[in-house]
Amino acid sequence: MDKLIVQGGRRLKGTVSVSGSKNAALPIIVAATILAEQPSTLRNIPDLMDLQTLCHVLEGLGARLQFESGTLSIEPIDQKTYQAPYDLVRKMRASIYVLGPLITKLGRAKVSFPGGCAIGPRPVDLHLKGLKALGATIEIEGGYILAKADQLIGTEIELKGTNGSSVGATANVMMAAVLAKGITTIRDAACEPEIVDLANFLNKMGAQVSGGGTATVTIHGVEELHGTNYAVIPDRIEAGTFMIAGAVTNGDIFINNAIPTHMEALAEKLCQIGVQLDWQEKGVHITTPNPLVPADVGTDVYPGFPTDMQAQIMGLMALTPGMSVITESIFPDRFMHVSELNRMGAKILIDGDSAVIHGVNSLSGAPVMASDLRAGAVLILAGMAAKGETVISRVYHIDRGYEKIEKKLTNIGADIVRQK
Ligand code: UD1
Repeated sequence: MDKLIVQGGRRLKGTVSVSGSKNAALPIIVAATILAEQPSTLRNIPDLMDLQTLCHVLEGLGARLQFESGTLSIEPIDQKTYQAPYDLVRKMRASIYVLGPLITKLGRAKVSFPGGCAIGPRPVDLHLKGLKALGATIEIEGGYILAKADQLIGTEIELKGTNGSSVGATANVMMAAVLAKGITTIRDAACEPEIVDLANFLNKMGAQVSGGGTATVTIHGVEELHGTNYAVIPDRIEAGTFMIAGAVTNGDIFINNAIPTHMEALAEKLCQIGVQLDWQEKGVHITTPNPLVPADVGTDVYPGFPTDMQAQIMGLMALTPGMSVITESIFPDRFMHVSELNRMGAKILIDGDSAVIHGVNSLSGAPVMASDLRAGAVLILAGMAAKGETVISRVYHIDRGYEKIEKKLTNIGADIVRQK
């Protein structure tokens, strides 16, 4: 298993480019593969483990996918296979995205029930609630979700969960509803930019989706969808991770392809902390001319502060003298990075769904372990800011969602070596 060896204390300087969004690409690839009648070409697709896993799931359904230099060419499924097996689904929860499209396109689906993961329980009740409302019959048997429907019928669906709206359930139900008969209205839909991108993509395939990015999404079902060409949005979480990389290293970096309207909550918080952001046409320039000040952060659904940036901003607050409190309301157990940051000299206590951070002046390099994607990202950030050497193991978590991370950061001055 690969390790990343990070030598701390290097100041980042230069320009780094953001890749395509993993979380936007996942449902879009599924939609192009299962829903369309003809081939599609997707651009700005990052080269990531999660997307490779998804492609294997889709190849198992009879699709043909070819990836080259950020472009994914897709020949849709052969319309016979409707099963997504456990050994693939367990590798990536987003495989659940095939459920809605398979039911609406083939009238049936057998998809392994995804388990929890390192960031806590990950229920799919809202996905199932939405698909049932559209008329699918759903049974759970032997760890599999068995779903059937001759024809889904549009209806009104309320998708609010206990922790707010669900990105995954909104995407799954949207993909099912585009080929349903009649009109579907999703209330309390997730508003994340990745949902807007999916709506735009579905419309480009001939769907009639309106209200993407608002709490009410309306879908007029159509008879069929055609193949198309599309470029996915840049990855706002990768962009945000680079912003914090600039801040923790007292760097001077320009982040190409960062989209300001996708990152308002993070940008506002960084400004409050004292990071200087200078938005330009192509991205954002990050500097930290003044000492940083502590701040409290609470994660929330979009447009709130993203849970996927919680670990990274904790790395920054750990190095900001004074007390900061980070409250996690989307995945309340998502604090595995705390013990690893503490091993590097951070002073962070967990109190229920909050982390109380007493900022220190410096961290020191240590052997640490990535326990999930973003928990891995903060270890790179902390390692770059720390004194001495940090050795990060279980790098495969980071590779799930960051394209060529050590190369991108090394190009702007970091000292990170991958040990195979
Ligand atoms: C997506 C993102 C993930 C991000 C998360 C929240 C992808 C592939 N992943 O995950 O990176 O951290 O959004 O922004 O896009 N919930 C239920 N029942 C359900 C579904 C979800 O109770 O059926 C709960 C979850 O436990 C969580 C909250 O709703 O508390 C939000 O989860 P959701 O938006 O569904 O996350 P994902 O789509 O899995």
